[in-house]
Amino acid sequence: MHCRSQPSRRSRGPRGRRRPNPRMLPFASCLPGSLLLWALLLLLLGAASPQDSEEPDSYTECTDGYEWDPDSQHCRDVNECLTIPEACKGEMKCINHYGGYLCLPRSAAVINDLHGEGPPPPVPPAQHPNSCPPGYEPDEQESCVDVDECAQALHDCRPSQQCHNLPGSYQCACPDGYRKIGPECVDIDECRYRYCQHRCVNLPGSFRCQCEPGFQLGPNNRSCVDVNECDMGAPCEQRCFNSYGTFLCRCHQGYELHRDGFSCSDIDECSYSSYLCQYRCVNEPGRFSCHCPQGYQLLATRLCQDIDECESGAHQCSEAQTCVNFYGGYRCVDTNRCLEPYVQVSDNRCLCPASNPLCREQPSSIVHRYMSITSERSVPADVFQIQATSVYPGAYNAFQIRAGNSQGDFYIRQINNVSAMLVLARPVTGPREYVLDLEMVTMNSLMSYRASSVLRLTVFVGAYTF
Ligand SMILES: *[C@@H]1O[C@H](CO)[C@@H](O)[C@H](O)[C@H]1NC(C)=O
Ligand SMILES: *[C@@H]1O[C@H](CO)[C@@H](O)[C@H](O)[C@H]1NC(C)=O
Repeated sequence: MHCRSQPSRRSRGPRGRRRPNPRMLPFASCLPGSLLLWALLLLLLGAASPQDSEEPDSYTECTDGYEWDPDSQHCRDVNECLTIPEACKGEMKCINHYGGYLCLPRSAAVINDLHGEGPPPPVPPAQHPNSCPPGYEPDEQESCVDVDECAQALHDCRPSQQCHNLPGSYQCACPDGYRKIGPECVDIDECRYRYCQHRCVNLPGSFRCQCEPGFQLGPNNRSCVDVNECDMGAPCEQRCFNSYGTFLCRCHQGYELHRDGFSCSDIDECSYSSYLCQYRCVNEPGRFSCHCPQGYQLLATRLCQDIDECESGAHQCSEAQTCVNFYGGYRCVDTNRCLEPYVQVSDNRCLCPASNPLCREQPSSIVHRYMSITSERSVPADVFQIQATSVYPGAYNAFQIRAGNSQGDFYIRQINNVSAMLVLARPVTGPREYVLDLEMVTMNSLMSYRASSVLRLTVFVGAYTF
């Protein structure tokens, strides 16, 4: 039982209302059973007051937390925050309200004016020993339980405000992101506080940060971090390079970036220069390659080299034939090319025996040789050197083209009396083939001896300049 240090009933009527009977004072002291007596008294008074409101001897009692105000003839709230030393302990702050007080954390926002202004709610005199303080109501067990004013729509919070139920009371507060201006809660424009690194969008009750293109919100939802577009499906066709806030597309070697900045198109290297390949340039995706004509193979990347089919064994010549390679091909020639009256004395050599009368006006020997030149050689061009194989003291050798040079494409330049040079006089274009009889006439100084031998030179002119 809580005992008050002085009676709460202190009626001093200004209009001469009679002071309450002093004999009643002991009942306010802490005597056992006094509560029951008070209850009985109040019941009697409650029944009596309607008939006799001017009854000077009526006794009025206020419930806990109120005291009698003779001026207004009402029970008046006691400000416990002022009257009770250290009403709230520690960091709690004391909030007075009707019929009691609250201890709340200092940070708690309390909208006092909703309760602190206006006429205090009428507090009926306690009717019953079990009656509850305002904001509480008796339950079935006759104990006081808190009334949830918010749930029961007993509050007067504005639509912009949120109602929070409190023990014995309630509180109207602004939602997060709102501030009270006048009676209403108004959205706070957080964007004014530069919370966002790039862009800020104010929203009712909150805000949202946005980032420039190429950036995304960081984990704190405020700063912006570079997006690696290359990892996020950037539309680069070939190569992607991330950079701060953007990305760059690049192409593989042999491709060039299209004007759209994303796609790559093949570069036609062959169109750049006709010197890329010796024979033919073939453009390929991202590169080019050089091709060579039949009978040639690629040397390094751009040059064409004649395939020596005779060396490589790629020829089809028979046992009785000799393989002769030339630019771009080969020829199978019969090993024995000696015609009557000549007889073969070695692979390339035919002799006309002096004993044979048919040989008297003929070169005593014919040697077969083969060579190949390319087309379009610059002229004059030394192509073949003839050398006397046997030297006779005092003898003199003369060289001439005996046959096969009807168009004068070649001539002989004598070097000395034992050798001469076959010279190409005009540029020739293959494929074509010359059979030149290069004759060496040997005479002694008295001109009494004359001998002739022939070098039968087959000149293959290739189709190409290489
Ligand atoms: C950022 O925003 C997302 C989505 O709204 C949220 O789930 C997350 O908790 C926020 N992070 C921070 C640090 O506020
Ligand atoms: C031709 O050359 C040979 C060898 O060098 C030499 O013996 C001969 O005397 C020369 N003949 C003439 C006519 O110069």
